[in-house]
Amino acid sequence: MILSLIPVIAIDGPSASGKGTVAALVAEQLKFHYLDSGAIYRVAALAALRTGISLEDESALSRMAGKLDVSFKNGEIWLAGECVSMDARSEATGNAASKIAALPKLRLALLDFQRSFLGHPGLVADGRDMGSVVFPDATVKIFLTASAEIRADRRYKQLIEKGIHANLSRILQDLQQRDARDRERSVAPLQKCADASLLDTDSLTITDAVNEVIGRYQALRA
Ligand code: C5P
Repeated sequence: MILSLIPVIAIDGPSASGKGTVAALVAEQLKFHYLDSGAIYRVAALAALRTGISLEDESALSRMAGKLDVSFKNGEIWLAGECVSMDARSEATGNAASKIAALPKLRLALLDFQRSFLGHPGLVADGRDMGSVVFPDATVKIFLTASAEIRADRRYKQLIEKGIHANLSRILQDLQQRDARDRERSVAPLQKCADASLLDTDSLTITDAVNEVIGRYQALRA
């Protein structure tokens, strides 16, 4: 494996696998920068929905994505100076994000912006193609997953805890549809790349998963 000068921990995996929570905690513990690439796709989808750009208009979407004014501060997501975390995190936005994420020109338009998160002393990046496309020379590549039933159950509990009405079988169905769309697209499909190591979190706590990622990173840096 090629070691980049600035260490990168790439964590890819399906929706609701817990990779976002794990990646953010790993970044915090190592004092690394953190890239939540899914949030960028979500904000691009939100901007399209708000401005009425069709989710199929690849040229208009990629032009918009090239000028997307998205930033992250104190765990919140900002679009053109407005805090949009709630809207960006909704299931509707997630579904729209997975539709536009299948468009090659849009993915290309977001590439440099994602790479601009790389900085000393290191970066933890989570998404679907962090190890395969965005940071192919990442120090360590993890494919973090869990069964669809466990992921649906985790998402259901999160929503209920926030006081948001949720339906478990609907969540499971949506997750399976989103997984299928992410896996079957022709560009940067969701898949474990050959040099990524699998981390199945079905029977792991968040702390176990964080320790496992840090352990694998340290073993490769040693
Ligand atoms: O990870 P999250 O659920 O926030 O991502 C939303 C959607 O954005 C995913 O379903 C996926 O289609 C897309 N995505 C992607 N590549 C990434 C990150 C997210 O295609 N690196």
